[in-house]
Amino acid sequence: MPELQRLDAGHAPAVLAFELANRAYFAASISDRGDEFYDRFTERHDALLAEQEAGIGAFYVLVAEDGSVLGRFNLYRFTEEGTAELGYRVAQHAAGRGVATETVRELCRLAAARHGLRTLKAATTHENVASQKVLAKAGFIPVGPADPAHIGGKPGTWYQRDLTAAPGISAT
Ligand SMILES: CC(C)(COP(=O)(O)OP(=O)(O)OC[C@H]1O[C@@H](n2cnc3c(N)ncnc32)[C@H](O)[C@@H]1OP(=O)(O)O)[C@@H](O)C(=O)NCCC(=O)NCCS
Repeated sequence: MPELQRLDAGHAPAVLAFELANRAYFAASISDRGDEFYDRFTERHDALLAEQEAGIGAFYVLVAEDGSVLGRFNLYRFTEEGTAELGYRVAQHAAGRGVATETVRELCRLAAARHGLRTLKAATTHENVASQKVLAKAGFIPVGPADPAHIGGKPGTWYQRDLTAAPGISAT
């Protein structure tokens, strides 16, 4: 069974392999990270771990039994009011099997129980139908337009989920 693990230094090689193997796939629906991300990957990984250590973000990897990374699920920009932004990406070879939907639901539970968060927000483009479905099925609702500058220059929508309310997860 794949396991959702808190990001640590030991994950760096598997995360880099995941990002490289899926670079073109991700770039079809979200902004490419740019060459610098890959060239300076260790620095970037260490910076994330420092953010996590400082309590302003929480980063997770879904790890397969062979140690490879199937997906990344991140909570960014914690506020004093208990809000955070959610971001995620799933490997192409694992797509379309409910991995993102199931893991976002699990992360919502962890966000409240482990990180004390009250609200999660996520922005996605109008054309990213898969991501919209993931959010809707995990109980997020659209709350307004997203600044295109935030999501790769394309129009989109902010979604939000109140973690203090009843789960509100649709069964379909
Ligand atoms: C968005 C993403 C995380 C979805 O991951 P996933 O594990 O394949 O998602 P799920 O299997 O949980 O599928 C969610 C729904 O989207 C649908 N879907 C998947 N790919 C789709 C596509 N290309 N077009 C339309 N619908 C799609 C699935 O059929 C499913 O709907 P259903 O339950 O009604 O059948 C993945 O496609 C990805 O990593 N994309 C690139 C990064 C990205 O867009 N991240 C989100 C940024 S906001």
